[in-house]
Amino acid sequence: MIRIDYTNVMAETIGERDGILREELLSFRHFVIETHARIQKEKERKFYFTKLPYQDTQDIKEFAKEISERFDYFVLIGIGGSSLGAQMLFESLKSINHNIYDKPKFFIMDNVDPDKFSSILEIIDIEKTCFNVVSKSGSTVETIANFAIILDILKKRLGDSWNEHLVFTTDPEKGFLKKFGEENSIKILQVPPKVGGRFSVLSPVGIFPAAVLGIDIDQLLEGAKKMDLVCSIEEHVEHNPAYLIAITHYIANMRRGKTISVMMPYSEKLSSFVDWYRQLWAESLGKDGLGQTPVKALGTVDQHSQIQLYRDGIRDKIITFIQVEKRNIDFKISEDIPEDIHYLSGHSLHEILNKELLGTKAALIKSKVPNITISMDRISPYNIGMLIYLYEMATGFSGYLYKINPFDQPAVEEGKNFTYALMGREGYSQKLEEFEELYKEKYKIEIQ
Ligand code: PA5
Repeated sequence: MIRIDYTNVMAETIGERDGILREELLSFRHFVIETHARIQKEKERKFYFTKLPYQDTQDIKEFAKEISERFDYFVLIGIGGSSLGAQMLFESLKSINHNIYDKPKFFIMDNVDPDKFSSILEIIDIEKTCFNVVSKSGSTVETIANFAIILDILKKRLGDSWNEHLVFTTDPEKGFLKKFGEENSIKILQVPPKVGGRFSVLSPVGIFPAAVLGIDIDQLLEGAKKMDLVCSIEEHVEHNPAYLIAITHYIANMRRGKTISVMMPYSEKLSSFVDWYRQLWAESLGKDGLGQTPVKALGTVDQHSQIQLYRDGIRDKIITFIQVEKRNIDFKISEDIPEDIHYLSGHSLHEILNKELLGTKAALIKSKVPNITISMDRISPYNIGMLIYLYEMATGFSGYLYKINPFDQPAVEEGKNFTYALMGREGYSQKLEEFEELYKEKYKIEIQ
């Protein structure tokens, strides 16, 4: 179960300067009906991510089982949409101590940071490691660079069996990984061509690593299916959770100056859900001078770091809290504690966490800061599946509100192209000239 409480975003609660009038929300009625019909028609094309919950998982599960039995370490090499989803599933749905007590131990090589790379190499035993190289394009510099070093290590350490330690997840039609994988008998899992990186977590990009780690991917997809069902049926802005999230954020942004969307789960395990959301919201909607800047916060930790600003600083934020109602484990404070701190006795950590959330929300209402709360009864694959789909659909729908294409990322590609030019890739000489024209280090200060 997930519940969305948007009371504190409404003018009724926080006033008209910062809050949304109900009539204003309802005035999107016709837009919603029209856009809803367009989305239904786009499900086989741009909105292809809506098809992923219905895929057959049998082969993936069987192969994942084989991998988890054969290997003690599972390393995902990928970045952005090719790694954040798996990281989010791992951190949300596995124990925080998974890598201490369980197998296969899971690591992600995303950045091209030698310190991170070496710290992973130090821990893993190459002979017992499977590397899942994930790249839709099959050509992202960071992924290919990390892979190239691993490839060399595998060949030197394992001789002829090096390819048995690799699984590629990539586009079925094009790219270096597909070609190299086929030439070298490496197992290839397919990323559906119509699904872009940040919308691909429910494809083999996310569900294969999840299955290897023992996450119930069928339940994950069940949750996504349920959300798809609700979002496909409900054409009313107040009943469709994805459209509601999109429209409240759009009004807050474009009509109330809330250019920042903070997401603040009161759960350590959901912290990387925000990393996934940040990419989805930023890369999909940050176009043509528009979009909201997504910001990550964590309750209660950031109450002691950010809330001063959120309450009393510049009035440019809408906040989404994520609350978990039940936990598998909790700790109660004993009755037998010093008198001075006795107000805490009998209360549990989970209870304090949620009371702190309530306290923070009341304080924000007082300062008229719009905030939405998404509660889930517990952190489960089903609920995470719902949440993933909810935000994917909210993002896709927002594309129509902002009148931009949420499925491309031209500004990211530009940086990638300059990097290729700087690395001397064939066909990029003109880009190198453009770079030299653009980039100057003219004003500097250096201190020894
Ligand atoms: O959402 C996106 O498309 C990007 O963030 C990509 O996922 C990221 O750049 C990695 O691309 P690729 O999967 O092609 O290696």
